[in-house]
Amino acid sequence: MTTESNMLDTLMELAQNTQTTDAFSEKAVQIIQDSNSKYDWVGIYIALEERLHLPPTYFKGLDPEHKDIPYTEGICGAAASQNETIVIDDVNAEPRYLACSIYTKSEIVVPLTYNKQLLGVLDLDSHTPAAFGEQEQTELEAAAKIIGEYYYKQTNK
Ligand code: SME
Repeated sequence: MTTESNMLDTLMELAQNTQTTDAFSEKAVQIIQDSNSKYDWVGIYIALEERLHLPPTYFKGLDPEHKDIPYTEGICGAAASQNETIVIDDVNAEPRYLACSIYTKSEIVVPLTYNKQLLGVLDLDSHTPAAFGEQEQTELEAAAKIIGEYYYKQTNK
């Protein structure tokens, strides 16, 4: 397990040294998952015009049911459309939650934005209830900033 600052340093280094968005995304979700044993599922949904989309290699963990999520649905849609992080300590008590695994107990979704452009969302699920505290949120928001900047630069080259 890497430490918090290690994870962010590793992501930064990856962003500086990776040519393609696919290679970057696949490694980024792995680096984030490896940083905390409570991060059971880590994925990046990219922002399309009508919906959020999860490309086949952009996640680590069990293959999820929801690979396309309209902006009007789920925690992912809510975080993207409100442009703010959403933390759910108990997914079973959350009406907006779209279930991807029966084991998931808590979830965080962080929007990926750069220069006011929404590029996607970073989504993490945990089998542990309330796994995403203040420290995890701060760390994951910093990770999302690195990812958002990378995506922005790739799409606006
Ligand atoms: N739970 C998410 C859907 C994605 S899966 O967790 C991978 C949501 O409610 O938007």
